[in-house]
Amino acid sequence: MNIKDLFINFFISKGHKQIPSAPVVPENDPSVLFNTAGMQPLIPYLMGEPHPYGTRLCDYQKCIRTNDLDAIGDTTHHTFFEMLGNWSLGDYFKDESISWSFEFLTEHLNIPVERLAVTVFAGNDLIPFDEVSYNKWLSLGIKKERIAKTVEDNFWIAGASGPCGPDTEIFYFRSNDEIPENFDPEDERWVEIWNNVFMQYFKDEAGNVTELPKKNVDTGMGVERVTAILESVNDNYKSSIWSDVIDLISNISNLPYEGNEESMRIIADHIRTAVFISADPAGIKPSNTDQGYILRRLIRRAIRHAKKLNIDINSNWEEQIARLLISKYKKYYSELDSNEVVVLEVLKN
Ligand code: ALA
Repeated sequence: MNIKDLFINFFISKGHKQIPSAPVVPENDPSVLFNTAGMQPLIPYLMGEPHPYGTRLCDYQKCIRTNDLDAIGDTTHHTFFEMLGNWSLGDYFKDESISWSFEFLTEHLNIPVERLAVTVFAGNDLIPFDEVSYNKWLSLGIKKERIAKTVEDNFWIAGASGPCGPDTEIFYFRSNDEIPENFDPEDERWVEIWNNVFMQYFKDEAGNVTELPKKNVDTGMGVERVTAILESVNDNYKSSIWSDVIDLISNISNLPYEGNEESMRIIADHIRTAVFISADPAGIKPSNTDQGYILRRLIRRAIRHAKKLNIDINSNWEEQIARLLISKYKKYYSELDSNEVVVLEVLKN
């Protein structure tokens, strides 16, 4: 079963309601160009407004982050990605949140406990050490050597102000090396897979931190990363999410992936993001400003790398890639199906 279905079914079994993925272009938040996390469309509810679906929610959210375009081309970064998330809006808190993350990872994804490590909030002048999370992890069988405490990396906020709180991050040892006894979050063999944020504070634009009306949970797990881990590949583009797209680019260019990784990854990544932006109900077209500018840049960069691979850019190369991506995702995102003509037109132009 697909990781998205496993995740949603698991949280439904814990009393959650599935909410639909919001569009990639935020509907009521002009402060950001794209949704960058599952919590973004939920900000009013984290602030206290009642949600029509209740107090336990889960979803997979389309996210776009384009602040780090130059990192695209490596094995793990993507401009578009899907984030799995579960939320408590003033309902359960640290105990259930951590227990369920652990249960899902070890019993449903069958990840061995020895491959897991976590970080917890170490405490600062304003907010104390997160002893509850620390003790909860110990009680679940995570050894104290595998629990690191940090301040900066264990406090989460989307941008400069908004709902926020201490978090506990779960890491997976993605390497064939022997697993070190002591966990070092800076060691790149440990990759972060899931973040549980305990949103009980609000930070205003002046930097003042106050308590929110309710204690919430906001979690996020990246589909691309966890899929690569489950399929035991050290390059996300070798996982089932991408391997057929890379094979197609390899066919179109008549070149192997090995030796051409960077350009093939950039083409795959950028076309996928362009497909999702142009299929969005916001009706974004390539332009000189805002989301349209990002869309134009992504398409231009894909073309530049297609040229590098000697792909005939007057052929229908981009249409073939877009059609494959649409066929892979339309079961989950119906707008790809209904806006297919628009997407292909944007790319062709
Ligand atoms: N909002 C949190 C994140 O994106 C879960 O890491």
